Amino acid sequence: MAFRTLKDIDMSHKRVLVRVDFNVPLDAKGRVADDTRIRAALPTINYLRSKKSIVILMTHLGRPEKVEDRFRLDAVAVRLSRLLKARVHKFDDVVGSDVEDAVGELSWGEVCLLENLRFYPEEERDDECFASELASLADIYVNDAFSVSHRAHASVHAITKLLPSVAGFQMQHEIETFDRVLHRPKRPFIAIMGGAKVSDKIEVLENLLAKVDALLIGGAMMFTFLKATGLEVGKSKVEPDKYALARRLLKKSHRKLILPIDCVVASSPNTRGSVVDATAIPKNVMGLDIGPKTVEVYRQILAEANTIVWNGPVGMFELARFAKGTNELAKAIAKLKAVKIVGGGDTIDAINKLDLASRFTHVSTGGGASLDFLAGKTLPGIRALEENVPRIKKAQLIRRFIPHP
Ligand code: 3PG
Repeated sequence: MAFRTLKDIDMSHKRVLVRVDFNVPLDAKGRVADDTRIRAALPTINYLRSKKSIVILMTHLGRPEKVEDRFRLDAVAVRLSRLLKARVHKFDDVVGSDVEDAVGELSWGEVCLLENLRFYPEEERDDECFASELASLADIYVNDAFSVSHRAHASVHAITKLLPSVAGFQMQHEIETFDRVLHRPKRPFIAIMGGAKVSDKIEVLENLLAKVDALLIGGAMMFTFLKATGLEVGKSKVEPDKYALARRLLKKSHRKLILPIDCVVASSPNTRGSVVDATAIPKNVMGLDIGPKTVEVYRQILAEANTIVWNGPVGMFELARFAKGTNELAKAIAKLKAVKIVGGGDTIDAINKLDLASRFTHVSTGGGASLDFLAGKTLPGIRALEENVPRIKKAQLIRRFIPHP
């Protein structure tokens, strides 16, 4: 691996700025509804505490345009504190003299959480001045936020030009897992791609087709493919400007790209569904799930796999009557011995609802980030860590004295 990780440099008694992704769903009362991403950062935080470092956590939450109370991180700090069984000092700002003073008052081994990074537009602009204000709080930077590493934002990218920078445990694990799958998969390697649009996943489809033994298609995207082959798809969601692309992908896939042979259709998502063959979709209905024959075919193909990557539900799973295809596949995959990797918020929701997460080899915290990785792109957050390596060597040689109370 071309970047440094937590254990490569001496972390004891350092002020460590850790980019985490605590962009978690909140319920109607503003409480954390799913703390998967917070739990994922615990190994890094606890390791740094064990080294008596001062842990300065920073994250975004949602996509606020300005400072808005509903995007504040107080509830996140409460949940983190409960999980750590330790106090988390929550600050009401991200940078500035109040924050600097507050960090200066922390004792070795303590943890604090800065306010939502996206309250500052400079964050998304990858602003170097903003990054240098963040950097002034710490001696070392840790990126433990794989799921936001596809964003060239200040806390992910510009900051690495200013501090010795390493990957946290979660970041390292995500990268190693996806890297192994893409470059050294145990074959047969089968991918399942769902979701609404071909356009969202073109690059992933193209990259995966070159690597997998079979690529199973589900979700609304299947209707663009079916239509592109000349079939009637009724009122199903399609992207007419992607028919040519779909045909090209089918042609060059050498039969690796597998389309559903039946589907569940309804006159609208509010009505009951019925099953029809993919070659006989009536004009007045829309497709909302894969059908039972397809589930069976996919199940048989998957049973042969030694590696499975799944991204995107295969039907409109948020409605129980169109969730059967997704649920049946999740249950079937859970029973297999293959390396099983799942990514994407909706797919993870689906397996969490069935309480199957522990039966998968790896449940990625990253939606967009895992898709970009699977598409073969270099994520800006990873590249930034790689480019930082020479800086670490220098920092290791110069032992800096950090005055601290
Ligand atoms: C995510 O939820 O995928 C990450 O936290 C990134 O969030 P963003 O899409 O708002 O940048």
